[in-house]
Amino acid sequence: MDTGLDGVVAAVTKLSQVDGGAGRLIVRGHDIEELAADYDFADMAALLWDGLAPGQQDSAAIRQDLGQARSRVAAMLPVLLPAARDLSAIEGLRAGLAMLGDDTSDHLLLCAAVPVFTAALWRQSQGEAPVAPDPARGQAEDFLTMLTGGPVDQAAARALETYLVTVADHGLNASTFTARVVASTRAGIVSSVVAALCALKGPLHGGAPGPVLDMLDEIGDLDGVEPWLQRQFAAGERLMGFGHRVYRTRDPRADVLKAVVANLRGGANRIALAEAVERAILAQLAVRYPDRRLDTNVEFYTALALEAAGLPRELFTLAFAMGRVLGWTAHIFEQEQTGRIIRPASRYTGPVPKGETLVAIAG
Ligand code: ACO
Repeated sequence: MDTGLDGVVAAVTKLSQVDGGAGRLIVRGHDIEELAADYDFADMAALLWDGLAPGQQDSAAIRQDLGQARSRVAAMLPVLLPAARDLSAIEGLRAGLAMLGDDTSDHLLLCAAVPVFTAALWRQSQGEAPVAPDPARGQAEDFLTMLTGGPVDQAAARALETYLVTVADHGLNASTFTARVVASTRAGIVSSVVAALCALKGPLHGGAPGPVLDMLDEIGDLDGVEPWLQRQFAAGERLMGFGHRVYRTRDPRADVLKAVVANLRGGANRIALAEAVERAILAQLAVRYPDRRLDTNVEFYTALALEAAGLPRELFTLAFAMGRVLGWTAHIFEQEQTGRIIRPASRYTGPVPKGETLVAIAG
């Protein structure tokens, strides 16, 4: 038994393979580096949904329908925005997705809802009215336009599109597993995605990149690295953006995103501090955990990539959801095809009826 289900195989999937030893991620037969270079969000949707989603569509049809879905979902903003006024962005997104009905909603609507709700929720928190989506734009460019009011730097839009592709799917991570568990009960696609978003929210999963930027800000400059690290270790804090359940080497997505940052305005300066911090942290982790290799995970350079693309750090986890919703929906379809409920066992250690022993009742 392992309370973290470490190494337990709980699903059979054709979607993605994470090779933790080699530091390799394959999505439907393609290395992630290849997909990040060539694909946009709609291409990735077509790849992941192929043979699984209802109504087979190529990427051109998905691109078009997704644009229209963004306009459809924007009609819900007059209800969502007042209700979410006092919520954080991620709580507002959770509320917005929960407003979709399991019977009436489709996967395109869910994928459209994440950027439309995220942009409008952020603008509301800044005292700004929502900006209408434009169905003719790509997913990332339209999101950035809805967020900022535009015009959008094309390099930033391309960087965000690459990010969405890079994080779209990643084996049986905590949020995808959650989605599959809920889907296995036949609760429906919206309920499964809302549950997945709740799992993503935590700082040990998708909530890490905001704190990565906080960390870089607190460190400030190269002289600040060592004292800051010593304080963190003394306080027993985990270092965000490092360590992974599966990878025993560098997360391949970290380098994809590092290259994205390097190509953006101001990216090179930020990378210089980040690299120094990364080197210092890896050296310390190697000393403290000689038997367990802890390396850089996707979230470290995600933070820099999303910052360079112009996103406020409060929206980093929502941006992750914007990409990962593709993987969640594909896994939900795949899980629904198996038809079997996911129901593991537990080991009882509580009190026993009088005259009996734990060994006897546990069988
Ligand atoms: N900083 C400091 N110590 C760490 C870190 C870290 N980032 N990661 C693991 N450790 C330590 C743990 O404290 C533990 O030490 P112990 O045995 O003395 O208690 C040991 O390494 C093993 O850690 P586990 O928690 O068993 O590792 P697990 O595989 O369960 O956790 C996780 C993986 C959650 C990602 C962990 O490495 C972590 O908390 N990282 C920081 C948060 C983070 O970056 N999350 C994003 C992950 S990527 C993603 O989800 C998209």
